[in-house]
Amino acid sequence: MKQRSIALLGCGTVGRGLVELIRKNRALIAERSGVDLTISKILVRDMGKDRGDVDRSLLTCRPEEVITNGSDVVVELIGGIEPARTFIARAIGEGKNVVTANKAVLAHSGAELFRAAAARNVRIGFEASVGGGIPIVRALTCGLVGDRILEISGIVNGTCNYILTRMAEEKLSFAQALAAAQKEGFAEADPSLDIDGIDAAQKLEILAELAFGLQLDPGRVRVQGIRDIDLEDLQSAEALGYVVKHVAIAKDLGRELDLRVHPAFLPKNHPLAHVRHEFNAVRLKGDAVGEMIFHGKGAGGSPTASAVLSDIIDLVKGDTGPVHLPEPVEKPVAPDIESEYYLRFPILDVPGVIGLIATALGNRGVSISHASATLVRGAPDKGSVKILAHRCRESVLRKSVDEIARLPVLTGKPVVLRILEEVT
Ligand SMILES: NC(=O)c1ccc[n+]([C@@H]2O[C@H](COP(=O)([O-])OP(=O)(O)OC[C@H]3O[C@@H](n4cnc5c(N)ncnc54)[C@H](OP(=O)(O)O)[C@@H]3O)[C@@H](O)[C@H]2O)c1
Repeated sequence: MKQRSIALLGCGTVGRGLVELIRKNRALIAERSGVDLTISKILVRDMGKDRGDVDRSLLTCRPEEVITNGSDVVVELIGGIEPARTFIARAIGEGKNVVTANKAVLAHSGAELFRAAAARNVRIGFEASVGGGIPIVRALTCGLVGDRILEISGIVNGTCNYILTRMAEEKLSFAQALAAAQKEGFAEADPSLDIDGIDAAQKLEILAELAFGLQLDPGRVRVQGIRDIDLEDLQSAEALGYVVKHVAIAKDLGRELDLRVHPAFLPKNHPLAHVRHEFNAVRLKGDAVGEMIFHGKGAGGSPTASAVLSDIIDLVKGDTGPVHLPEPVEKPVAPDIESEYYLRFPILDVPGVIGLIATALGNRGVSISHASATLVRGAPDKGSVKILAHRCRESVLRKSVDEIARLPVLTGKPVVLRILEEVT
């Protein structure tokens, strides 16, 4: 039996989940892997905080006690860019293998950290950085190593999915669903990174790099969050045979990449339409294996700790595993994609308003497959027009929508959502 120890940076949701998982399943882990795992030290900010059953003698506020002690692996579970980046770089400098769950630091400084790790002949495990407990990194780097990945699509932000599910199923407003997500621990006090799509974009960058073997500059993903989604949009979707989901899509189009995260209408029979609450799913298409879908808990202390632990065991067993060191490749992100669209225009209830909107769309060749209006008796400023547009280029549609947004009959911002008929 190999005796191996790990040092933890951070003992929050995931850190505590990992401590608990090792305590609970230490014998099972040893039986399966031949490794008896112990924790040597844990870095925290606040020594006085209640941490349940965590052995307080392991806690310290001094990073050097964690990074430079004799542990075999340093596990970064602090989150954010700094000081996580500096601590990871120092651990690599000490010749330590590192495991992290931190997509933000990888999206921001991944290339630099992976280069440093390669130079010191150590590795960085990052399974938990995408999809929580879903072993998607290992699938892409090991299980499907022989496949050319053609495309990836998924639901990779549990907060957005939880909010959209509660809105759709319980007819909650966006604000009510967000408050519920915060109460249940599925959204941060400041939920911006999640609901504005940044977190999903960072995860998609990691997935796209793995899938297509590219090194992407940060910020390459086209991002739209869910702040503007109204209960009315979910109800329209339901009536028309769709659900609204926040999706992440990566396709290698040859000369260009299509990389985007945005809310979309999905037909009710779409494989991602059934992913509810905080669950995540990643769907991918390989040239040999065909299509597959991974579904599971994308967040939470215990599921995320499960993914962290799989990296730790991989590293301490000395498996060769994935060495993530993609080459920088200049591939522009496709500026303009074709899609069908759902449009909602908040309007004043005055004669001819639907005609004005239809004309502005028709003038640029955007044709309409469905139109409906909701008008509130006695409240002429509470109306809305909902339209499904046939497949068209986004740039063309945007020009029409901008023109409509300037009409005096508009009472608010138009909502534009893509319809994902099928990922092709
Ligand atoms: N939570 C999830 O469901 C989930 C899912 C997937 C990935 N992740 C990723 O996992 C990582 C950890 O997330 P989490 O939810 O566990 O975070 P968290 O609950 O906020 O815990 C962060 C921990 O890091 C410590 N810490 C923060 N700044 C520090 C500093 N400057 N010096 C020393 N210690 C510091 C905190 O110490 P104190 O306890 O003393 O404040 C805390 O123990 C993040 O990268 C996150 O994106 C989380």
